[in-house]
Amino acid sequence: MATIKDVAQYAKVSVATVSRVINQNGYVNEDTRKKVEVAVESLNYKPNSVARSLFKKQSKTIGIIVPDITNPYFPELVRGVEDYLIQKGFTTILCNSDEDPEKERLYLDVMKQKYVDGAIIVSNTIERELIDGYDMPVVALDRSIHHDIPTFAIDNRDGGRIAAEHLLEVGCTRIGHIKGPDKVENADNRYLGYLDVVMHKDWFHSGYVVEGNFDQKQAVEVTKELLQNDREIDGIFAGNDTMALGALKAAESLNLNVPEDIAIIGFDGIDLTEMTKPELSTLSQPIYQMSREAAEALVALIEGELVQEKENIFPTTLIKRQSTKR
Ligand code: RIB
Repeated sequence: MATIKDVAQYAKVSVATVSRVINQNGYVNEDTRKKVEVAVESLNYKPNSVARSLFKKQSKTIGIIVPDITNPYFPELVRGVEDYLIQKGFTTILCNSDEDPEKERLYLDVMKQKYVDGAIIVSNTIERELIDGYDMPVVALDRSIHHDIPTFAIDNRDGGRIAAEHLLEVGCTRIGHIKGPDKVENADNRYLGYLDVVMHKDWFHSGYVVEGNFDQKQAVEVTKELLQNDREIDGIFAGNDTMALGALKAAESLNLNVPEDIAIIGFDGIDLTEMTKPELSTLSQPIYQMSREAAEALVALIEGELVQEKENIFPTTLIKRQSTKR
């Protein structure tokens, strides 16, 4: 396969001149340009993308950092980002951070070494100061990082309120909550939305809330704990759909019928919620639209445009299915 040196020899010019022609960077007279173009054509030279990245310090690559791709929410989120970016000629590097600041820093270092053009980050731990050190456009998706960084997320507290109110509307009299992980902003806000609805009820006490980890298996155990705290619980709001799947499993293991004995609602609107028996009610996030718009904003930043809105908040949609049909 022809190299840039072969092109230079063929056109009888320097490698630097060939590079300037290929990367359209710097002055080259018309005759020289034509000689290089003939050489490229004749030798069927394909510029090496790594070499181009080194020269232009651009790679047409975008970094995406998410906490855990094994959670079905994130593949749906990444799909919306990637479908847009590929249309604009960008490829992606996908990174699982496990909410670990050291892993986030490692991945940002790798992105810098590879001249990544920008990054879309889902994080509750990364600091604005850390990002400033990498000198590349960043957009926050699903969770905010800093008010100066364009953010695409939903109104989590409103969604938590809607979930709890729906359980009351279908006749639940005692509602428990499986909260997402501590210090994850959106989990905390969904919990606050739940409290907005129930904290003044005469039956409410702290035993009605257990802490999950946005994880399905662990939610089976904490749901059993919740139901042992108070046998009166007849409705559960889980802070995400994977925990709601765990709650369904726990109810089955306790021989509780859903929704007759206990109604269950999740949060996210992942496709799996249509596959369970009973099908799961949920607060659906506009995952694809939100992530696509985040990708559009990042490309605009890379292309030097101003992004007007820093905070882009999307509404959730209540999806009523069998698991709350009482
Ligand atoms: O299910 C994963 C959760 O983490 C979702 O609720 C999403 O909002 C993300 O933050």
